[in-house]
Amino acid sequence: MNWSEGTRRSFLKQFGAAGAAAFAVANSDVLAHSAPTGAQAGPAPTPADLKQAATRDARMAWWHEARFGMFIHWGLYSVIGQHEWAKEYQGIPIPQYEILARHFHPKPNAARDWARLAKRAGQKYMVMTTKHHEGFCNFDTRLTDYNAAQQGPGRDLVREFVEAARAEGLRVGFYYSLMDWHHPDGAICKTDEAARRRFVDYTHGLIRELMTNYGKIDILWYDVSWPLNAEQWESERMNEMVFQLQPDIIVNNRNGLEGDFATPEQHIEASAAGRAWESCMTLNDSWGFNRADNAWKTPEAIVDNLATCARGGGNYLLNIGPEPDGSVPLISIEVLEAVGKWLDTNGKAIYGTERGQLQANVNANYTRRGNTLYIHQHFWPGHTPAADWLTFFQPQVVFAIGGLKPKVLSARLLKTGQKVEFTQDEFSFRLTGMPLAAPESPATVIEVECDGEPVIDHAAERPLWPRYKVGISI
Ligand code: GLC
Repeated sequence: MNWSEGTRRSFLKQFGAAGAAAFAVANSDVLAHSAPTGAQAGPAPTPADLKQAATRDARMAWWHEARFGMFIHWGLYSVIGQHEWAKEYQGIPIPQYEILARHFHPKPNAARDWARLAKRAGQKYMVMTTKHHEGFCNFDTRLTDYNAAQQGPGRDLVREFVEAARAEGLRVGFYYSLMDWHHPDGAICKTDEAARRRFVDYTHGLIRELMTNYGKIDILWYDVSWPLNAEQWESERMNEMVFQLQPDIIVNNRNGLEGDFATPEQHIEASAAGRAWESCMTLNDSWGFNRADNAWKTPEAIVDNLATCARGGGNYLLNIGPEPDGSVPLISIEVLEAVGKWLDTNGKAIYGTERGQLQANVNANYTRRGNTLYIHQHFWPGHTPAADWLTFFQPQVVFAIGGLKPKVLSARLLKTGQKVEFTQDEFSFRLTGMPLAAPESPATVIEVECDGEPVIDHAAERPLWPRYKVGISI
């Protein structure tokens, strides 16, 4: 770019001499500032992967549109209430741990409340632990009596979950932990071939039941493949069985194969373009109910995380850890309801949005669909001193995006539809005449129509911007 005198003046007029320094962009989120690493990429595609790939777009269309799901961790560990790894953290022997199964007494149809909550929160699908690492099956099975129907609950909790989700029109996902701390072969299968055979048959058998007995299932969410690798789990055969029984299902990548989507955990990281991904995260720091864990995330944090996922074309799977009777901790309800309320008016900026080249900053996040940019302004600027000294003290609200391409055609507040005035030049797109107080919380969304795909690339643009008394003679 040729930095003519006119260009330099126009820059100084807008930002003043200190303007450049004010452009320190926060480097706080992984998605915005790291190039996709493909860190989730695993081994080369297998024949089963290639077969799945042929139908992937059609199977995943609803999931890409959905963007936001509810994860539910519920099991015997909920009775202890000290995190879902309590058995291992505390070295609880199996006979003692098994006693919990007789003291697990959920209230009737707890899952209905979860499904209604998910609906109010704007979540479009639910994924529940059918069997976590502890080995207890929340479903009725012929393969072990260590299951909800034959122990304390006296009924099939997975069936209740499926019916509850369907009643609210939500998609249904099964979490299934391959790792099993209860099964006698669960660890020695690594070194003892007869044990591996038994344990793999048991595992495939349980998955077969899950894929057979509950009607249409939308997601199979494998977890922890320790201590075997994909070959030892016979994961290709596992997925083939799953797709034979549930042709429209999508599966994740935690049985050692690529599956349909990657699963960054407790952080947000986009996969390489073209690869679907879902970031799963807790609301506090535990997946299972942990009564002393008060590290709750705020609605602001959740809305921002959701936008960050959407910005990278990914989904956000947000966990609740119900109490042993199935009640959801009150704070979880409050946070989810606040997020749902925001989505009621701003869902357009999340659902069905597409991956974009949009670098966020500390004040705002961005999503897009086609040529429409959504500015999620979470830190509302309030009174902004004008760069023009004549109007310096006139109350006004201005915020701007440096390096936004291409031309903006119109802008409006998503909540009210009210038109927003703006100016745009080669450096900056500036919204003017906004109300002093933020019209919406946790983030105000401004819908901006552009005449091409919106791109915000500070990293590429900033080195080109003129600097006062730096390398320029005036
Ligand atoms: C990890 C944890 C497990 C949790 C899962 C969710 O694998 O071990 O407890 O269920 O993450 O992604």
